Amino acid sequence: MTRTSGGSARATDRILVVDFGAQYAQLIARRVREANVYSEIVPHDLTADEFAAKAPSGIIFSGGPASVHVDGAPRIDPGVYDLGVPILGICYGAQLIAHQRGGTVGRNERGEYGRTDLSVAEPGALLVDAGAGSHPVWMSHFDAITEPPAGATVTASSPDAPVAAFEAPDAGLYAVQFHPEVHHTPCGQDLIVRFVHDVCGCGGDWTMASVIESSVDAIRAQVGDGRAICGLSGGVDSAVAAALVHRAIGHQLTCVFVDTGLMRAGEGEQVVETFQKTQGIELVHVRAADRFFERLAGVTDPEDKRKAIGELFIRIFEEAAGGITDAKFLVQGTLYPDVIESGTKDAAKIKSHHNVGGLPDDMEFDLVEPLRNLFKDEVRAVGSELGLPDEIVWRQPFPGPGLGVRIIGEVTPEATAILQAADLIVREEVRAAGLEREIWQAFAVLADIRSVGVMGDERTYARPIIIRAVTSEDAMTADWARLPYDLLEKMSSRIINEVDGVNRVAYDITSKPPGTIEWE
Ligand code: XMP
Repeated sequence: MTRTSGGSARATDRILVVDFGAQYAQLIARRVREANVYSEIVPHDLTADEFAAKAPSGIIFSGGPASVHVDGAPRIDPGVYDLGVPILGICYGAQLIAHQRGGTVGRNERGEYGRTDLSVAEPGALLVDAGAGSHPVWMSHFDAITEPPAGATVTASSPDAPVAAFEAPDAGLYAVQFHPEVHHTPCGQDLIVRFVHDVCGCGGDWTMASVIESSVDAIRAQVGDGRAICGLSGGVDSAVAAALVHRAIGHQLTCVFVDTGLMRAGEGEQVVETFQKTQGIELVHVRAADRFFERLAGVTDPEDKRKAIGELFIRIFEEAAGGITDAKFLVQGTLYPDVIESGTKDAAKIKSHHNVGGLPDDMEFDLVEPLRNLFKDEVRAVGSELGLPDEIVWRQPFPGPGLGVRIIGEVTPEATAILQAADLIVREEVRAAGLEREIWQAFAVLADIRSVGVMGDERTYARPIIIRAVTSEDAMTADWARLPYDLLEKMSSRIINEVDGVNRVAYDITSKPPGTIEWE
């Protein structure tokens, strides 16, 4: 799946997703993978010969922000229409097909954005599961097709898109104005399945195991007999990337794990257990808790703390990586990129400090990023397939500075021990309630205030733990989780009874915005 080299060596059927600058190109590729067919994103400026060389079973044109009426709007080499390969156009892609194949695209007086009712007149090949009648779909367009290409049948319309879908089977042309790839179009996945299986004739034998096989081939081709290093954070992305690269190149990979002492309870041991003992990965384990606590003594300002932790982390990683002098490759658990590179470049040559921050300027690495085309849940599926334990694969996101940003005030070994114990209880109870995969993050925060309490007829004067649990799609916005009262009660009573130094538990009911997920 990496673009670095030959990522699809074992794919039999292949769908090319042409990127016209869509927000959703990766999502389309993902939906095709969900239909068990290999997919690859390609730039729109490939020539027809370059398309043919990839021997696609089908081509999907993505949406995009342009209007076909604007100079310089992205086009497709007209020769692509003569390749005899079925084409599905989505949104801008649909308009482009109409525009280039003799139909008409009008400038609408008003666009359609959001949920719209699609009226299916003639189900054709793609809307056969939805059937005739009205179906909710997601639209996001201004221009609209007013005439399909000659010979095409209009299969559906919507209030502001008279040609919301058309099919011209003889020409191999299929087009939908709406977005079948988003969840808000309930009939969308069926449509994509119909296109790739029925229209393109793809077999549907592409699985997560195939993703791993082709990734392994690609990594071997890229790294050859060179050496690679990988910084393990304990998080799922770097863990899966490391396991995948290890499957490909074995002992040519060395992982570096800097244990800051600010990890969650048991996390350091688990990383060592999983990677060194179970997977047999060469691991440099740097126990650096003392250095971190020494550096953090007296530091209370959140930004100063983050800076101190980040700088020390980099210094220690650099010291460890400096010992692996012959490593030419740096493995990163980058997920699908924010900016799609359109598959034209091989591994980017970087100054290592751009990515891991602060490695010496004269160290240059080639990046190995085997997860860059995958979504988080696909990465989890790959991790499970590789045999990583659920505790790692289903781990919730954790901030780089670790518990340091969840201890308000000075970070000391004592405060860290209190927080680790309380945090473990929160995580155990959320898991026991079966909510771990539903909740984006659930954790404890230690405040630097004290309050009066009474325990066993004795007065207490101790610190509170704040429980924070949020639901989110992407951490950009979040809502506080409506945890059941009995779950909150269980956490509260366990924390107060089992964690010395805590006499009160509060629940944070702030969404983001205005709050952030972390407290510092
Ligand atoms: P906030 O607190 O900004 O957090 O709402 C959003 C998401 O990012 C995580 N987070 C971090 N992750 N390094 C990271 O790798 C960091 O410094 C960092 N700070 C916050 C946080 O846990 C949440 O998932």
